[in-house]
This record gives sequence, C-alpha cells and structure tokens, in this order.
Amino acid sequence: MPDLSINFAGIKAPNPFWLASAPPTNSGYQVMKAFEAGWGGAVWKTLGVPVVNVSSRYGGVNYKDKRLIGLNNIELITDRPLVDNLREIEEVKKHFPNHAVIASLMVETREEWHQIVKDCENAGADGFELNFGCPHGMCERGMGSAVGQEPKVLKTITEWVQEVATKPVIVKLTPNISDITLPAIAAAQGGGDAISLINTIQSIVGVDIDNFVPYPIVDGKSTNGGYCGPAVKPIAMNMLKNCAQHPEVNIPISGIGGIETWRDAVEFILLGAGSVQVCTAAMHYGFGIVREMIYGLEQYMTEKGFNTIADFQGKALGNVTSWENLNLKYKVVADINEDKCIGCQLCYTACEDGAHQAIGLPRLNGEDEGNRVPYIIEDNCVGCNLCSLVCPVEECITMVRKDDGTQHETWKERGEAGNTPTTFNDQRGGGVGHYIPSPADALKKKEKYIVKK
Ligand SMILES: Cc1cc2nc3c(=O)[nH]c(=O)nc-3n(C[C@H](O)[C@H](O)[C@H](O)COP(=O)(O)O)c2cc1C
Ligand code: SF4
Ligand code: SF4
Repeated sequence: MPDLSINFAGIKAPNPFWLASAPPTNSGYQVMKAFEAGWGGAVWKTLGVPVVNVSSRYGGVNYKDKRLIGLNNIELITDRPLVDNLREIEEVKKHFPNHAVIASLMVETREEWHQIVKDCENAGADGFELNFGCPHGMCERGMGSAVGQEPKVLKTITEWVQEVATKPVIVKLTPNISDITLPAIAAAQGGGDAISLINTIQSIVGVDIDNFVPYPIVDGKSTNGGYCGPAVKPIAMNMLKNCAQHPEVNIPISGIGGIETWRDAVEFILLGAGSVQVCTAAMHYGFGIVREMIYGLEQYMTEKGFNTIADFQGKALGNVTSWENLNLKYKVVADINEDKCIGCQLCYTACEDGAHQAIGLPRLNGEDEGNRVPYIIEDNCVGCNLCSLVCPVEECITMVRKDDGTQHETWKERGEAGNTPTTFNDQRGGGVGHYIPSPADALKKKEKYIVKK
C-alpha cells in the first residue's frame, strides 16, 4: 500500500488532502467531523478581528445540467470570537494530534500579527497560513488581496510573522494579479516557508435581468465576489506551474482551486503541489468525498509504482515549456472511428465554421445516401483537436500522428537559423499553400460544391 503521508514545509499530515480555509473549517465541530471522514489537514477559517457578514452571500454558475461549476462568495473572515476558535483548535488537536491544523490569519498591525501568531501557537496550531488573498470586503480595509497585490507589503508582513512564529508559515496568494510569481517570490524573500494558491478570483457570476442587480443580492444591491470551484481549476494549475517552475520561488506549494476528485489532486501534485486544499467540493458534496479521493489516489499510485507523494510530485513540470520550444514538425490529424460514430455531425459544423473545413459529409458528395458519418479531409486538417473535443462519443475521434518522428524543429531554432517569417507577406508563414475555400463558396448551396475526399 502506498504511503500517502506528507511533510509539507515541516507540517506533517496523514495524507495531502486538506480542507481550505472557508466555511467547512469554521468550527471545531466541522474540522473534527472532517478528520473523522479522512481529511489529512484543515486550514481554519481565517481568524482575525471578527467581522459582520451580509445575507445572502453566494452566487453560483450552473452549466446545463451541472450545478455549481463555479461558486462566488462575498463572505468575509470569521465572525466568531478568537477565544472560541482557539479553544476549539486545542480540542481538535487533542483528538487528532497527527493531523494538520493550520491557522489562517488576517490582521492589520504588526502587534496584532505578533499577538495572534502567539495565541494560535499556544492553542496547538501546526502552522499558519497568511490570508493575502480575499478579494472582496477585506481588501477595501487594506487587508487580504490588497496585500497580495503588493509584493513589498506582503514581504514585510511575512517578515513580521516570522519574527515570532516558531511553526511553519504558508503565504496564501491572490490570483487577482497579472504575474503570480511576483508575490510568490516576495513570500520566499520574506521568509515564508511555503505558499498556497489560489484564493478566489474577483467576479460577477450573473445578473438578475428583471431587477437589474447582480448576484448575490443584498437588499437590492450587490458587490463583486470571489470565484472558485471546478471552473477555476485551469487558472489555478497555470499559476501553480508558474510558481513551481520559478527558480526564485523554490519553497513548497499547497495547490488550491477547483479540486474535486483524486484525479484533480494528482494533476496538482504532478504540477508541483506538496498538498492540496479543497473548499467548494466539500461545500457542495460534504466531507465524505475524501474517501473516494484517498482510494483513487492509492489506486493511482499503486498502478504507477509510486510509493510516496514525493515520487510523483512535480513530475509533469519538465514537460511544460515555452511555446517556442515545441516541435513544429509534429503533425497529427483527426481520425473518425466509423463504428463508434452516431452521425450527429457536430464535428462537421465545428470544423466547417470554427476551424479549417477539413470534414466532409458523404451526402454533399451525392454518395452514400442515408450515411451520416463524416470523413476527414486529411490535407486540410491542421490537427487542432476541435472536432475531437466537440464529439459527444468517447474515443470516436482520435488524433493520429502522421509525421515519422524523425524531424524536430522549434520556432526558437528557426529563429536562430534566420528562418522565421519577418514581413507581412512572407511566404514562410505556416498557412501558405493550405487549402481555403474561396469566399464566394460560402454563398453557394452546399450541394453545388463538392469537397474532395
Ligand atoms: C464561502 C467561501 C469563504 C471563503 N473564506 C475564506 C477565508 O476565510 N480565508 C481564505 O483564505 N480563503 C477563503 N476562501 C477561499 C478558499 O479557501 C479557496 O482558496 C477557494 O475557494 C478556491 O478553492 P476551491 O475551488 O476548492 O473552492 C473562501 C471560499 C469560499 C467559497
Ligand atoms: S461528432 Fe463524433 S459522433 Fe458526431 S458525427 Fe462527428 S465523429 Fe460522429
Ligand atoms: S482537427 Fe481541426 S482541422 Fe482537423 S478535422 Fe478536426 S476540427 Fe478540422
């Protein structure tokens, strides 16, 4: 059986699955229940001077029959007195000494940072997470993302915390910034032991079109909120990759953003995360999802022959490079499996209107009356993947390699050899010689022009 336990920047946990700082970690009752279900760690709902929250607080993005692919909130940090939270942290640690309890913190002055760090250490917290990410409400008061967007301030506050902290300090970053590596580097320079990302993304998730007010609605008004859930995962993974590859960051990273399954977690770990944090999925489905996550991760590791998380942490990073280093000689084209095809012709429409007119319909050639299976016109296919992405049948359209694998040339190499297009009409452009129907063909009845097979 693989060993799922981790030592993340000095914080030990039985597995890499942590609950992110959010409503599921609002109380000792919830954290205790979560640990009982199998979660390896919990980042407590951010502690500070208690706030007053509004009602309502959340907005959701549903996509077709899938509820909550995105969640937006305008909730602030904890509204509970510090003393209650500290007492409960102490109680949780008594019951679960080997689980990670991390105190998320957000205060203003140096004195407040010092005091709250000491209080949490006394309560038995295993580490700290500095919330420099909250993008609504708290930033209006100069905290949260207002700090995360100012690397210098972030560094200074991290240094304040490290003046007194004896436990590891994780700096939680905001994604509401153009270059995530800048605050990440500042966190490392300020003495942060690790970073975590992402916090929520500033957003408006919808507008009530009858009453003219965005969601969530608070007595007829709204405000921008923080976006999270499955929809943000691609953004989070890109930011994770940027930080994990940057030589000046070089501290452990806890990955957050849209993680719902063991597979999501594996992807984050492959991109360099040493632990993963989950909020929306736990809010949507409850703590029980961790059982499936643990089981799936164990199965994956067993199949791949990985004994520990470290065995595969960051394993995908070496395969993420700059565009200029990709092989321009690699060539794939789409291939339709006629036995699987249900004849919906979604691929045809997508390629015809949204790609390169590389899919033909037998009907238009006057052949095979009744046959709805499209065919690929290989010469026209640029291998963009679009048809395979829209096809509703699994593995029906596959991308097949056509080059013989012997040639390798990158944009960078072409540039170095002086072989890149340099003028507007340069004949070395990739599209030169590629088939394009004439504009007037668009107005003809389809039956009148015969696509070549
Ligand atoms: C309702 C709600 C409240 C949150 N409160 C906090 C908070 O107090 N402190 C914090 O650092 N992050 C907070 N977050 C952000 C989450 O910890 C997490 O970074 C974000 O939701 C992305 O993860 P997810 O896609 O798994 O939800 C909150 C998120 C939600 C949805
Ligand atoms: S989208 Fe897929 S199933 Fe539909 S016609 Fe194209 S290949 Fe067939
Ligand atoms: S891969 Fe792109 S260009 Fe080729 S057939 Fe599919 S959609 Fe058309």
